[in-house]
Amino acid sequence: MERKVHWAWPAFTGGLVPRDKLHLHFEQEYATYVRDFPVLLGRAYVQCPMAAARRELAENLYEEETGGLAAGRPHPELFLEYPRGLGMDLARFGGVVPLLPASRAWRELLDAHTTTCGWAVAAAVTTLFLEGTAYERGELDPAAPRRPEAPLEQHPLVVHYQLPIEALALTKAHRKVEGGHRAAAWRVLLDHAEDDARDDVVAAMDDQLEAWLAYRDGVAAACGITRDTLPPR
Ligand SMILES: [Fe+2]
Ligand SMILES: [Fe+2]
Repeated sequence: MERKVHWAWPAFTGGLVPRDKLHLHFEQEYATYVRDFPVLLGRAYVQCPMAAARRELAENLYEEETGGLAAGRPHPELFLEYPRGLGMDLARFGGVVPLLPASRAWRELLDAHTTTCGWAVAAAVTTLFLEGTAYERGELDPAAPRRPEAPLEQHPLVVHYQLPIEALALTKAHRKVEGGHRAAAWRVLLDHAEDDARDDVVAAMDDQLEAWLAYRDGVAAACGITRDTLPPR
């Protein structure tokens, strides 16, 4: 997970993506995994034979699908507050969003990993890879670097694109519940996954990383970002 870092991300958080291209990022995120996240997670749930693990997955699924425990609204709906707050055309999110080639490839891999590889792989790619960050070690080990949490007024979309703070509804919801989801995700895999699933899980996570990096390459290119766009480090 420490490798879930993309070279172009500083352009997205540094306001270097032209305002008229930013919708491409949100549309690809929404259509590749945000909109269907509860379905992808549900596939892990239905394949899992362990009731104790299923309960953890069900709690995450219920919150993601309904917001009934914390956020008040389904998380995919809360995501749309970003483009709504930026004045984007929400109709573009309602129908079939044309996926870039690497986006389609990543989504196909997500579908394969959540349907044909067993519950542990499905749980790992959804609750660890998709929901997790490069700071997973900090969720488990108090000595490891923690997920940074800047004040909402310093959120890049607020600073660089004048997003109203109310539109950070999903960011707020995740700060409330995602710590619990991180801990539960690791508990489910570490306490319940069968030992012989380990190699498959690690291989799937590696494949996810490769496909995700290619996906982010595609989104960066569509947004006009090249390595030359970034300020020298
Ligand atoms: Fe979650
Ligand atoms: Fe969520």
